[in-house]
Amino acid sequence: MSAQISTQAVSIDLQDRSYAIAIGAPLIDNPDTFAGLPKASAALVVSNTTVAPLYAATLQAALAPHYAAVHLVVLPDGEAFKTWQTLNLIFDALLAHHCDRKTVLFALGGGVVGDMTGFAAASYMRGVPFVQVPTTLLAQVDSSVGGKTGINHPLGKNMVGAFYQPQRVVCDLSTLHTLPSREVSAGLAEIIKYGPIADMAFLDWLEGHLGALRTHDLSALAHAVRRSCEIKAHVVAQDEREGGLRAILNFGHTFGHAIEAGMGYGQWLHGEAVGCGMVMAAHLSQRLGLVDTAFVARLTRLVQGAGLPTVGPVLDAHDNAGRYLDLMRVDKKAEGGDIRFVLIDGPGKACVRGAPDVLVRQVIDACCSTQA
Ligand code: NAD
Ligand code: GLY
Repeated sequence: MSAQISTQAVSIDLQDRSYAIAIGAPLIDNPDTFAGLPKASAALVVSNTTVAPLYAATLQAALAPHYAAVHLVVLPDGEAFKTWQTLNLIFDALLAHHCDRKTVLFALGGGVVGDMTGFAAASYMRGVPFVQVPTTLLAQVDSSVGGKTGINHPLGKNMVGAFYQPQRVVCDLSTLHTLPSREVSAGLAEIIKYGPIADMAFLDWLEGHLGALRTHDLSALAHAVRRSCEIKAHVVAQDEREGGLRAILNFGHTFGHAIEAGMGYGQWLHGEAVGCGMVMAAHLSQRLGLVDTAFVARLTRLVQGAGLPTVGPVLDAHDNAGRYLDLMRVDKKAEGGDIRFVLIDGPGKACVRGAPDVLVRQVIDACCSTQA
C-alpha cells in the first residue's frame, strides 16, 4: 500500500438515506476513514476466502478503535455461492457472536460479498447498518453504490433481495493492485456502460485511458471510479427503487444475465457478460434505427479493447435464440412476459423498450459464436 492518491468524495443524495462515497488510496488502514459511523459495540466484517487473507486484518485493525469487538466471517468465494446457504453463514456469525441490532456490517470484497452483506444487513433483526468496502473495480464503480442487495436463484440472477442503502462506501484504490486482470476487465464493462447511457465525453476519455486502467494506473482509476460513481449517484438519486430511469443502468444486462444464467453462474464473469450484452444491445438499437453502425463498431472496439468478449456464447445448439429469449423473460424488467431492453437512443442517451422477437433473434444469431 505504498502509492497514495488523495481522497475524493462523491455524495449520493437520498434524503435521510444519503451517504458519502470516499475514493482514494490507501484508505482501509486508517481509523479516520471509519469515523462518524453509527455508534455500536460490535462490527462484523464479511469477506471471502480470497479477500480476507489480503485485507481483513488491515480493516479490522482500523475498525478496532471504534468498536469493542470486530468479528470476521469468511464466505466461500464465487458467484456460485451467492445463495441462501451462504447468506445464512452471515446470520450464523451474527447470532453466534450475540450481535445486537446496532451492530455494523462491513462488506469487504467484490459485488458478491457486497450484495450478500447488504441483504443480510437489510434483514438481520429487520435491519442493521452496513458499510461497503468494495475491493473489485466492478464493485467500486457500480455494485457498492445505490443499495441493490440480494442473492441469485437457480432460475434467475439477483431474483431475491432488497433495496437497502449503506451508511458509507469506501473505495480504496490500492486494494485493486491484487485484482487479477480478468477481473479488471470485468469492472471496465460497468465503467464503459456509463458512456453510451449518460456521458459521451467520458466514453472519449475511456478510449484514451484503457491501457492505463488495465495496468492499474492510480490516477486513471481514481478518475474512472469517481466519474462512474457520480453518474450512478445522479441516476439513483432520481429513482432509488427503479420505477423508471434507474433501469438505464442495466444497459447490457438483459442479454448479459441470460448469458450468466445460461452458462451457469461463475462461468462468464458478470462484467464479461455485461460487456458482450452491451454489444448485443447496441446491435438491437441499430436494427431499431436508434443508432448507426459506426456507433455499434465504436462500442464493440472499446469492449474488445477492455479485454472483454464481444461474441456471445451458444446456450442451446438447437434453438440458441429461443434459449436466450426464455432466459431474458425472467429478467426483472420484463412485464407480463414481455422483455424490455435498455437500448441506446442516440449517443449518450438510453431508453427502455420492447423489441419484436424476430429482431431479437436476428441480433442473437448475428452476435453469437457459431461454435456450439
Ligand atoms: P466478485 O465479487 O465475485 O469478485 C470477483 C473476484 O475477485 C472474486 O474471486 C473475489 O474474491 C476477487 N477479489 C475481490 N477483490 C479482490 C482483490 N482486491 N484482490 C484480489 N482478488 C479480489 O465479482 P464482482 O465483479 O466484484 O461483482 C459481481 C457481482 O456484483 C455479481 O453478483 C453482480 O450481480 C453484482 N452486481 C451488483 C450490482 C448492484 O447494484 N448491487 C451492480 C453490478 C453487479
Ligand atoms: N447496477 C444497476 C443498478 O444499480 O441499478
